[in-house]
Amino acid sequence: MPLLAIESTCDETAAAVISRGREVLGSVVATQEALHARWRGVVPELAARAHVERILPVIDEAVARAGIGRHDLEAVAVAVRPGLVGSLLVGLAAAKGIALGLGLPLVGYDHLAAHLYACRLAHGARVRYPALGLVVSGGHTGFYRVDTPTRLERLGGTIDDAVGEAFDKAAALLGLGYPGGPWIERSAVDGDPRRHRLPRPLAADRERLDVSFSGLKTALRVLVRPPGSPPDLPPPTGQARADLAASFEQAAVDSIVAKVSLAMERTGLRLLLVGGGVAANSRLRAALVDCGDRHGAEVLVPPPALCTDNAAMGAIAWEHLDRGEAAGALLDVVPGTDRTARARGAV
Ligand code: KG4
Ligand code: ZN
Repeated sequence: MPLLAIESTCDETAAAVISRGREVLGSVVATQEALHARWRGVVPELAARAHVERILPVIDEAVARAGIGRHDLEAVAVAVRPGLVGSLLVGLAAAKGIALGLGLPLVGYDHLAAHLYACRLAHGARVRYPALGLVVSGGHTGFYRVDTPTRLERLGGTIDDAVGEAFDKAAALLGLGYPGGPWIERSAVDGDPRRHRLPRPLAADRERLDVSFSGLKTALRVLVRPPGSPPDLPPPTGQARADLAASFEQAAVDSIVAKVSLAMERTGLRLLLVGGGVAANSRLRAALVDCGDRHGAEVLVPPPALCTDNAAMGAIAWEHLDRGEAAGALLDVVPGTDRTARARGAV
């Protein structure tokens, strides 16, 4: 019998029904993009309230799409870390209610490990362990040694903004929409990535497996709004904007690829699993495959719909269930960012 996975870590309300064979029987993602577009970033309180409104209809829809009833479920799984605390709590409350009401085991899973598990859904047995993991999303940018689907050791990552956050801020500077990644990607298609030489902080530093994006963001701001420009200066348009978008995108991609290359050299691992919303980016996907070719490594990236937040990747909960790892009614959330997780020594 299948499990129900619930995902509400940030601004997507998602549910999926997945068989023990990791077949996704029904998957629904209700995006909150329109809600947050006005602020060009996720407003946590609004996100939590929207989850409350949407979570039960989204769950019902996922179960209906699977062609089953709630009583056909075998377990309930929920992403409990990391994420926005208010958002996580809505998913957890729904999962606990359904699990208790139906007398089903409850499993909490890690959202970042789930992003990488999307590779398993897309590429099946080509995923082997240990592997190198790269999570690039709106809230996280990290390099991992992945020993098992559920055991990740953080090797490094961003020391400031997440790469997706940088895409979102760059898009705002260029007068593009939210979330910024897809907008930058579309605009960059017609641009010259060599038009502006934007910084790749830490890229040449072979001591650290870390990346930084705040300087890139500032450099773009200085190009778009040079010091002394009037406050009502309109954002660039046309070719100028396309060149800025392409140059930004290239710099962000180069920063990541430089450290993926270093991680492959350091660890000797020859399989890279990639996950997170920014992994939907074509320039990044192509550059990672090139990097893999240079190192004789295989690079696995899920299709775009499995890169951005979704609950199908909650299939990872079967890995816990197969080992008899169900949580009790005291299951709690672990909010936080890359930085707090690092401080705690957790993933
Ligand atoms: O994984 P995700 O859906 O949510 C988090 O866990 O954070 O990632 C969302 C991020 C946003 O910052 C969005 O701008 C970025 O992924 N993104 C992209 C693309 N599609 C989404 N960034 C670059 N290129 C894309 N095509
Ligand atoms: Zn995510």
